[in-house]
Amino acid sequence: MAVIAGNWKMHHGPAAAVGFLSDFEIGSLPSAHELIVFPPTASLHAVASSDRRDARLQVGVQNIYWEAAGAFTGETSAPMAADAGASFALVGHSERRHVFGETDEDTRRKVEAAVRANLVPVLCVGETLDERRAGRVEQVILRQLDAALGGLRAAKRFLVAYEPVWAIGTGETATLADAASAHGSLRGRLAEAMGVASSATVPILYGGSVKPANAAELMSAADVDGVLVGGASLDPASFREIVDAAG
Ligand code: 13P
Repeated sequence: MAVIAGNWKMHHGPAAAVGFLSDFEIGSLPSAHELIVFPPTASLHAVASSDRRDARLQVGVQNIYWEAAGAFTGETSAPMAADAGASFALVGHSERRHVFGETDEDTRRKVEAAVRANLVPVLCVGETLDERRAGRVEQVILRQLDAALGGLRAAKRFLVAYEPVWAIGTGETATLADAASAHGSLRGRLAEAMGVASSATVPILYGGSVKPANAAELMSAADVDGVLVGGASLDPASFREIVDAAG
């Protein structure tokens, strides 16, 4: 079973998001895979509560703040996201880290907040092109994982997504060897922290320019348990093709 997740980023307001559900035709898809969409916060409730949403399509929030409530204009707390219908929370997406300046410490707090609200955290890690060129891939992604591990270990369930920053929205994808190597490092660290058997149950997703044409190959790489799709998840037909590619 694979996990196929769509991160819509800042696309699809409520009407377009519900339109996606009508066109996605999940009814005829094989049920073995776990399917998740991450709509923008403004569309979260519309998607989660829509009668056009098949229960097999789960819903997550793209970002949360770590406080539960208070004077934090523009933020969404984990309990509020859960109330709006989210079951998952992306934490530490590269755009949060690199566009909005989120630190490892911020991601740790957000993971802990997600766990307190019973949201399943999806911790995103990934190196920049400069970090890759400097041979620091493993160092960077393990540092990002380590920073969140305390919070993750308290979760009933969590996912990790390896998204190399240079592959996001660029049309570049990691080679199978790059993906297998990064995923293997992440799995190894999880095994050290929680034991081999438990680490094997943590889905590690690949993200970065995943498309219908490359999804099957990427998912065949060692330790790649699914994909986190940006641009190609916006169109129901292409997201469906990616689900089909999972077999
Ligand atoms: P793209 O698939 O558009 O490269 O985005 C990947 C991503 O950031 C998913 O979270």
